[in-house]
Amino acid sequence: MGVVSLRNFFVLSLALNVSLILKAVNQNENLHSGASIAVEKGAKVAKMTFLSLPSLSSPSAAAPETQTPLATERVINLDHGDPTMYEQYWKPMGDKTTIVIPGWQSMSYFSDVTNLCWFMEPELAKQIVRIHKVVGNAVTKGRHIVVGTGSSQLLLAALYALSPLDSSNPISVVSAAPYYSSYPLMTDCVKSGLHKWSGDAKVFDKDEPYIELVTSPNNPDGFVRHGVVNRTGGILVHDLAYYWPQYTPISTPADNDLSLFTVSKCTGHAGLRIGWALVKDVEVAKRMIKFIELNTIGVSKDSQLRAAKVLEVVSSSCEQAGGSEYAESFFLFSHTLMAERWRLLKEAVKRSGIFSLPNFSPAHCNFFDNTLGTQPAFAWLKCDRDDIDDCENFLRRHKILTRSGKHFGVGSKYVRISMLDREETYNLFIERLSQISSYSYI
Ligand SMILES: Cc1ncc(COP(=O)(O)O)c(C=O)c1O
Repeated sequence: MGVVSLRNFFVLSLALNVSLILKAVNQNENLHSGASIAVEKGAKVAKMTFLSLPSLSSPSAAAPETQTPLATERVINLDHGDPTMYEQYWKPMGDKTTIVIPGWQSMSYFSDVTNLCWFMEPELAKQIVRIHKVVGNAVTKGRHIVVGTGSSQLLLAALYALSPLDSSNPISVVSAAPYYSSYPLMTDCVKSGLHKWSGDAKVFDKDEPYIELVTSPNNPDGFVRHGVVNRTGGILVHDLAYYWPQYTPISTPADNDLSLFTVSKCTGHAGLRIGWALVKDVEVAKRMIKFIELNTIGVSKDSQLRAAKVLEVVSSSCEQAGGSEYAESFFLFSHTLMAERWRLLKEAVKRSGIFSLPNFSPAHCNFFDNTLGTQPAFAWLKCDRDDIDDCENFLRRHKILTRSGKHFGVGSKYVRISMLDREETYNLFIERLSQISSYSYI
């Protein structure tokens, strides 16, 4: 009884607070951009205790913990895209995603010998199909699902599977700059004779087969992308790690030959190391499975079962939003949080007068059934001051750690900043950034 009422309290608190933020964000969106977010009718106003984001209109009224002398000394590390922000959703969810695995379970290497992907837990496969149906972001019919230890392992598996076996030269792997900084490192990690990194897809002009990595929405800049190399003999791999409603409008179900997804950026469970590929061609799927066999003889069953449970709760929260179990969907919560973070960032950038951010056009989101803006998992920040060439270095002097544009195939005027850190770190970042101005020392 005690547990039930505690859970009810959390659900109620979550509902009330998200409603308030939604209302505030909606008003703000309407005022500033003309775009509106999906707001349920009759949103209740309540005390905002669940989220405590700072208000930049009164910087002196920032959260007390960010004003301590210690806070001014603290190094803010936003280099990695570690999605700890989502703890804020999952903590109040309590036991909803708890699973118990007795010691005798998950012992065999095998999960389902009737499936091509014999190491995939059937429950995970079921929940993957379900979440794509609920969100409408990918076609799963006619696709083979391959589970991997993160989508990182699946990207390597895809490169292995798509490289020609009989060629004397490694196939070129390209991606349009700015590209995800790990692609060059992953492609050339073992100096394979199968494939080699060949840089920016926009300037690739060799008359030979190639693999193009298409990240949409893109890491680091958040734009929706399509293949850019206009030649024959190309194979596309779509990395859709961020194709979820909290980051970008869901315009159409992805219908590619090979798409990669991950729980890391969808639900925030990066530590589970679970990703999946949707693969059209059975031979490609077989070779990817072979790669994972050779690499790790399958994928942790415990992690798969946890991922299945997390995805199940996310789908249920969408299907039962407004009911007694789930006040609102996981994506409404995370979209609201991202919208508020982006609002604060834009204000801080404007206040500084020396930085700029990409501009995104609003688009229709089928999931929220509304016209919405884009709010990427990373801020792709440009330092516009003429006397600053190295933005990463400049921000490091202000104790903000970011990743330089040079790792993404562009200049050091740009940096990538994670938007997914914990609230306390994010608040501190906003406060620190808004204090940087055209007069700040280099
Ligand atoms: C575009 C992109 N693809 C793949 C990954 C790797 O994700 P995973 O944690 O599933 O290995 C990341 C992680 O940041 C990413 O940004």
